[in-house]
Amino acid sequence: MPRTAAEVHNDLVLEPRDVKFDWSRLPLHWIPDEPFATHTINVLHLLLPEGERWFTEVFKDALPLITDEQLREEVLGFIGQEAIHAEAHQEVLDHMLGQGLDPRPYVRQIAWLFQRVLGPKPHLSPRRRRENTIERVAFVAAIEHFTAFLGNWALNSPGLERADADRTMLDLLRWHGAEEVEHRSVAFDLLVHLDRGYGRRIRGMLLGGPLLVHLWVRGVRFLLAADPELRGRLKPSWRQAWDVSQRGMLPDPIQSVRSGLRYFKPRYHPTQEGSSAQALGYLATSPAARAAAAR
Ligand SMILES: [Fe+2]
Ligand SMILES: [Fe+2]
Repeated sequence: MPRTAAEVHNDLVLEPRDVKFDWSRLPLHWIPDEPFATHTINVLHLLLPEGERWFTEVFKDALPLITDEQLREEVLGFIGQEAIHAEAHQEVLDHMLGQGLDPRPYVRQIAWLFQRVLGPKPHLSPRRRRENTIERVAFVAAIEHFTAFLGNWALNSPGLERADADRTMLDLLRWHGAEEVEHRSVAFDLLVHLDRGYGRRIRGMLLGGPLLVHLWVRGVRFLLAADPELRGRLKPSWRQAWDVSQRGMLPDPIQSVRSGLRYFKPRYHPTQEGSSAQALGYLATSPAARAAAAR
């Protein structure tokens, strides 16, 4: 008998897949003749190494607060997956630097944000430290809503093939996207385990949603200005973002906003978004994930 979506999701065992990618032949504009779309997606590489390392730190801080064994296992699986995601995107940054696009000024700002502003607060009392950890889990849960949305989009984006996007980059985006869909409930379930209240969840989104949009816009501006072939000649605009999304190379902005709003529904749960079966299906065929499994 075919298994239901809930059964597929409940049976998941989160495993880190130790993937490797060869970037030596990645062109600067890996969607040919589409520097705006390329760099809009490239913002992922700017944000995720620092961001996902920070996720793993927050979740390690939360481990002693967990009283449910199965949730603890899921959190450990999540930490393992996010740690590998961060390193995979870091390698793309290193490759960019070799191509003459220096991402370090922007990444330094992101590092300051995650390590200093949102970093651990050891001077707090134990009670306030616990509160601070749960507050940061709420922030991670909100961002994980978007990573699952983007992952689901990456798995269902034929526009990138039509535009002849680099196949290795597509595999990175879809392998990562599939794991984001696979572990999409963990941060939310952890938050609910630590605080069932609606207020904290909403605070996480009210902070995380606008911050993510702000960092993304700044990231696109930064990359277009730092690109050694463009030399600042291409100015970003919302009109271009709309145009490129309608050609299937970026998520639809209206769908993105709608997705963000769904997080505010009192009965929201991440399993309502995306398909675990589709994510597992991609991971079974992903060149990088298959090579990792063979190792
Ligand atoms: Fe990730
Ligand atoms: Fe994630």
